[in-house]
Amino acid sequence: MSDRDVGAAEATTGSVDDDNPPVRRVSDWDADRLAALAADHETPLYVQDLDRVRENCERLLAAFPDADVRYAVKAHTGRAVLEAVRDAGLDAECASAGEVDRALAAGFDGSRLHYTAVNPPARDLDYVADVAEAEPELTVTAGAVDTLDRLAERGYDGRVCVRVNPGVGAGHHEKVTTGGAAKFGIPYDRAAAAVRAATERFDVVGIHAHAGSGIDPDQLDSHRELVARMGELARELIDPSGDTDPSDNDPSGDGADADPVDLEYVDVGGGFGVPYEEDAPPLDLPAVAAATREAVAPLPEGVDLAIEPGRYVVADAGVLLTRVNTVKPTPDETVVGVDAGMTDLLRPAMYDAYHPIRNLGGGREPDGGDAPPVAEREATPVTVAGPICETGDTLGTNRALADPNRGDLLAVGVAGAYGYEMASQYNSRPRPAEVALDDGTATIARRREDLSDLTVAERHPEPDGGDRPEAER
Ligand code: LLP
Repeated sequence: MSDRDVGAAEATTGSVDDDNPPVRRVSDWDADRLAALAADHETPLYVQDLDRVRENCERLLAAFPDADVRYAVKAHTGRAVLEAVRDAGLDAECASAGEVDRALAAGFDGSRLHYTAVNPPARDLDYVADVAEAEPELTVTAGAVDTLDRLAERGYDGRVCVRVNPGVGAGHHEKVTTGGAAKFGIPYDRAAAAVRAATERFDVVGIHAHAGSGIDPDQLDSHRELVARMGELARELIDPSGDTDPSDNDPSGDGADADPVDLEYVDVGGGFGVPYEEDAPPLDLPAVAAATREAVAPLPEGVDLAIEPGRYVVADAGVLLTRVNTVKPTPDETVVGVDAGMTDLLRPAMYDAYHPIRNLGGGREPDGGDAPPVAEREATPVTVAGPICETGDTLGTNRALADPNRGDLLAVGVAGAYGYEMASQYNSRPRPAEVALDDGTATIARRREDLSDLTVAERHPEPDGGDRPEAER
């Protein structure tokens, strides 16, 4: 459970103040600052503003003052971000041994670590069972009875949360809609029995469900339905006979004689969307929080609501800077070639995701002279394409950009979540650098990879064993 000061969060409940707007648009970033960062550190370059990460944490804590708020670290696992989130008082929700390892290194102790095991590889379970010996407050969330068996085989008998498939999903794309997908969680109508059976072997502290990622204001009904189902299941588990709640209808039909389960929390997942289009409205977070509380109620005394947002914490705190290297008019469209592509930001290629793109200028006319300031240029519809040999490698199509010139700097907005995290070295492209802004000061958070990073893990058998020492082969 989070050790943050609930009282302090209450003091700011519901406040939507001008210093902490619900969204930061790509147009809100200081163009001169971004241009200076690109000049200092080259492109492609991620810029992650820790102050904005903190603001996002504050808004979440203010909207959900009585909930446990866990940051889904998969959205951005950079050390500086993890430390900022830790200091803000959020727990960490981790999807792999690697994420647990990085959260530990960033100073989250076991009581603030939640490992969500999805078809976990054996080495991940081995690692987490080991960690749990030193950090017995860590919680493992399991979405299959088989996973619970595998934990028990490793001697694990600690804190467990059971992931439920709520049968209702939401999200910005079918590939990120988890609720209702058979892969995730124990089917709702089998969940109560699975939880009760798990109490024989573990300290069962919670139930969990996650609808999907990138839920927008139109999908709040699905969120509400999921939360209501989880509230109902929690009441059935805590009060199987329905003595204290006569409206309890015992959804699984098998619990009237069961022992109560001493749950600490009901985790209704993350998924809070952020607006990517410049004119899309942000989520009304206080309204989402009110709807969540209403749908889950009544939770018995002592049982907390938990949420685990990832995107909401980091998305609008990040931009990707990329430089125009080619301008190619064709009969159909003008293609603007840039030095960042799907290896740096995969979301457009993978989900057809929209990211706003702003031309910050600074380039040269074809004759070599300085291009005019962007404010003086006509908006031109263009396709922004990366350097990868794939048709899908575009960052945006049919975008009205201030007429681009070679050398212009473009800012790709809302890139702080699932941006660097999903970067790859495909096409043998080293991954980009990332700068963290902390109270305005820029420091390198991840250095730019170079060509030697491409082969760092490669082992090339040499006929005679080569002359490298064995340990290095
Ligand atoms: N909890 C669980 C168990 C999850 O699986 C996820 C995300 C979250 C929390 C956080 O969801 P969020 O608040 O960030 O929406 N790569 C995709 C997103 C995949 C999300 C997977 N799970 C994208 O770029 O849109």
